[in-house]
This record gives sequence, structure tokens and C-alpha cells, in this order.
Amino acid sequence: MANGNTFKVRVGQRAPVSHRGDSTPLLTALEGHYSECRSGYCGACKTRLLDGRVRYLSTPMALVRGDEILPCCCVPETDLHLAPQ
Ligand code: FES
Repeated sequence: MANGNTFKVRVGQRAPVSHRGDSTPLLTALEGHYSECRSGYCGACKTRLLDGRVRYLSTPMALVRGDEILPCCCVPETDLHLAPQ
């Protein structure tokens, strides 16, 4: 629900993100809130890997299933096919 010019944006069951309703793109606001670790700790960036292989730059701390990757801290080793979020 809007509060003045500030809006709450909720993604699934996660805590809502506040957006000032200014020119900041929504993606930028969400990225800053949910992906601030960018180091394999929070798991917010988990993405399902449909095909391909990645290499981690450091050992991630977040738990991932065999078909998930953490794009914040890996690089492709092959062509990749990622599932839509
Ligand atoms: S942003 Fe936290 S694990 Fe990727």
C-alpha cells in the first residue's frame, strides 16, 4: 500500500522493499535490497540452471540445490541456459 509517494514492493514472502516513487528503476531498488551481499552468503540471487556449467570464484556459503547457482559469485564455464524467475 502506498504511503505518500513511497510504495512498498513485495516479492513473494520476503520483507517489502520501499520505493520512493522517483526515477530509480524498480530493478535497481530490488537489486540493492535483495542482492546486497553479492558474495554467496544470502542466497537471494539463486537461479535455476537448466543447462551448462559454472565455476565459483569463492566457495559460497548459501545452500543451493544441484540445479541452482548463485550468479553473484560465479562465472560461466560453458554456454548457459537459466530458468526464468
Ligand atoms: S547476492 Fe547473496 S548469494 Fe548472491
